Parts: sequence; structure tokens; C-alpha cells
Amino acid sequence: MKVLGISGSPRARGNTARLLAEILRGVSDAGGETSAVSLSGYTIEGCRGCERCRRDLTCTRFNDGMTLLYPRIIDADALVLGSPVYHYNVTSQMKAFIDRLYAFYDFTDERPRGYSSRLADRERKAVVFAIGEQADPADLGVALEALSLPLRPLGYEVVAELPVLNCFEPGIVGEKREVLESAYRCGQALVAAFSGA
Ligand SMILES: Cc1cc2nc3c(=O)[nH]c(=O)nc-3n(C[C@H](O)[C@H](O)[C@H](O)COP(=O)(O)O)c2cc1C
Repeated sequence: MKVLGISGSPRARGNTARLLAEILRGVSDAGGETSAVSLSGYTIEGCRGCERCRRDLTCTRFNDGMTLLYPRIIDADALVLGSPVYHYNVTSQMKAFIDRLYAFYDFTDERPRGYSSRLADRERKAVVFAIGEQADPADLGVALEALSLPLRPLGYEVVAELPVLNCFEPGIVGEKREVLESAYRCGQALVAAFSGA
């Protein structure tokens, strides 16, 4: 079982990367194969809505970070998507990544168009998490939903959604034992969901 983790933070060594590593450690200890990507290291253009992917069945408008990530997404049985909360939402890097997953949809010709996802070809699952500075859960805004809602029609069962509060300085989440334990358990739950355990 292959799990691809995606950090949507522009800070390569920030809280999102630290928590992603802990979730993937849980996956790995449960027998999954893991790899991690920081979107900070990739240039990902925002979707232009050109609809060329309808014809070409992938995004041919750009040759960018998504060109490298598309095969890894197809290959992975599961995704872990994590983002810092930016103004009650995910980062622009994560939003661009999610919007470019549009290239996996097939649409019918009538209006409104029916759609199906080529990622719904087999059992796929996901874990999502959002991490913010504030103490009030309301200050995470719509970040968790912005991660989980698009994944479902794409073909992923979202196994766990983890909200994380009170984290500002880069890497400070590494000092929060309870949060790390929750993250680790999310990784284990992801593998268990596949085995039906
Ligand atoms: C532009 C910007 C907007 C932010 N907006 C919020 C917010 O709406 N709610 C919140 O709790 N934290 C907010 N934060 C704080 C970050 O979510 C927090 O520092 C997080 O731990 C950063 O994660 P990282 O270290 O992985 O980059 C914001 C930070 C920045 C830079």
C-alpha cells in the first residue's frame, strides 16, 4: 500500500511538514510504503479553466510541478494532504494543487455536465489535516473542508480529518506530544482502513 503525503506549506520545515512526517511514520509502522512532497519545492500554476484536459486526459497547458506529481498521485493508493491555515482556508499552493486534480475528471456533454473521476478506478483513501496558530477551532475556518470535499468526488474515502490548533513557530508542533500521537494514529488508521481491520 503506497501513501503519498503532500505538505501545502511554503515553509519546507514548518509544522505541516513535521506533522506529515508523523502521520507517515504511523503508516510506515503499519506496513505502508510512504513518500512525501513539499509543495514549497514545486512550481504549480493555477488552473486556467482552458479545458484542454478534457481532450488530452491530462493537463497539457503547463509543464510544471504537477507534470511530475500526476504519475505519483495515480500510483499512490492513498494521499495525506496537509495545509497550514491561511486566512481561514488552505494555502494558495495547496489550492493550486487541488484545482489541478481537475485533469482527472471525465465529463459528459450535456449541461450541467455529469462527471466521473479516473482516480475512482480502485479503492483509494485519504487523511487530511489543517494546522493553525489560533486557539479557537473557528479560526481554522474552512481549511479542513477545503481539503476533504474535493477528494471525495475524485474517488477518495477520507478516513480521518485532523484539526490542529495553537501552532505558530515553525516546527513547534514537534513539541506537542498529544498532537503527534493523534497524527501517528491517523497514519495507522489509514492502513487499517485498507485491510478492513
Ligand atoms: C498569511 C497567513 C495567514 C494565516 N491565517 C491563519 C488563520 O486564519 N488561522 C490560524 O489559526 N492561523 C493562521 N496563520 C498561522 C499559520 O497557520 C500557522 O503559523 C501554521 O502553523 C503555519 O504552518 P507551517 O509552519 O507548516 O507553515 C496564518 C499565517 C499566515 C502566514
